[in-house]
Amino acid sequence: MNERQEGNRMTHQQGRFLYPDDTAKRLSELFWQEFELSRALFGWLPAMKVFEMKGLLSRYGYLHNQHAKLLSERVAELPGPTLERQLPPALLREAFERAFLAPSEAAFMIGYAHVLGKLYQSYEQLHYRLDPILDAPTRDTLRYILLDREDMLRFAHDETFFAGVDDPMLAEQVEVWRGYVEELWVTVERAMKAGAGTDVDVVVKWPAIPNYEAAGPVPSDSAWDEERFPLYRYNEAYKMSYSDPSMSPLHDSIKQMHYINATEMGAAETLCYLYYGAQHMPMSFYFDLARHLWDEVRHCQMGVRRLRQLGYDTSQFRFSKGSPGRGLEELAAEWFPDMYAGLTMVAEPCSFIKKRKSALGFREFGDELSAIQCEFDMADERMHVDFGKKWGPELYKQINHLITAAQMSERARLRRVEQLGSAATEEEAKEIARNFPGFCGLSTVELNYSKY
Ligand SMILES: [Fe+2]
Ligand SMILES: [Fe+2]
Repeated sequence: MNERQEGNRMTHQQGRFLYPDDTAKRLSELFWQEFELSRALFGWLPAMKVFEMKGLLSRYGYLHNQHAKLLSERVAELPGPTLERQLPPALLREAFERAFLAPSEAAFMIGYAHVLGKLYQSYEQLHYRLDPILDAPTRDTLRYILLDREDMLRFAHDETFFAGVDDPMLAEQVEVWRGYVEELWVTVERAMKAGAGTDVDVVVKWPAIPNYEAAGPVPSDSAWDEERFPLYRYNEAYKMSYSDPSMSPLHDSIKQMHYINATEMGAAETLCYLYYGAQHMPMSFYFDLARHLWDEVRHCQMGVRRLRQLGYDTSQFRFSKGSPGRGLEELAAEWFPDMYAGLTMVAEPCSFIKKRKSALGFREFGDELSAIQCEFDMADERMHVDFGKKWGPELYKQINHLITAAQMSERARLRRVEQLGSAATEEEAKEIARNFPGFCGLSTVELNYSKY
């Protein structure tokens, strides 16, 4: 018996008002749904073929993640455990993974629209049970979150409005999947009512998954619009990033910077695999990673937009996907921290030098907009390097490698020197990796800043 039950006299007020820990519990449930939705959208980003869809999924995945962050901040103010170090409830994770193991983009979106609608119903129900004075801070949190409701629901429904309209097979598949997700959610709600997720043992009888092959999330090879964004075929002769002139008609111009930005969808995709695959990291890691991921998409969009403004078409350039080429379960555990260290300790810090020079160069040519782009880019990248210093060692710890940020950085650079084959001996490789600006010069090719 707890303190509250001890002094308890039955009154007509009982059950009518929420205790602070009731609010915390309900917010935690909403938190996990928002978090799982961010995971679903980021996981499906590489499975989407159309460039603009990848952009939308990164944006909404980020918003779900930010909603989760707002909820976790309020939960931390209330009694009960904070969410920072918790793992998702097994039932919910299972339900979301089942719902989103969909056979097509359209089927995924149908399922997403249904689950999203249910989530907003829960928000609605909670909103008017909160005391206007006592729980005003929670009402504020929900008010901010609900600002995105209209946009999100519209996105989910508009994207599926014509699904299968001229394709009877797809039309049928989408209907089958819709029915499946609806049934799945009835099962989840029933299990929750029966006390699943508490101490009560509830046997969940999941509906059978329709017999289709899954197209996502996190496909081993990402879907890609090759007509508009042709893929680059690796050429042994050009090991340094962006050194192959066949990649871009701008290779001899300062405007090559825009092309480099336009290729950042590859980096964003890679981070999607990390977001989906990293299982036991603290919640603030996922908050930072979501921002990082969405930023890389923004950089890509900014590059594509400027190339088009300058009269180029993306089909004139060559791009790279970010998928690892193997299923998540086949990836070596080191793939995650190695990739993350390579990005935040090599690619991003090295890019500063180029970006600063580009900003100055663009300004000299009177192209203020391009200069401003480089400056925003640098501000974002600086933050990403900080994320890397903070979370890289944590990721290595997860796979039982204890490593400091400095060691991680040196190791990532050393690996890059090895890839380039630019050192004769191990000692020489270490020397190159230690000498940071020189190392960057070797790792990535310089731009021609004097030519517009
Ligand atoms: Fe970037
Ligand atoms: Fe970045």
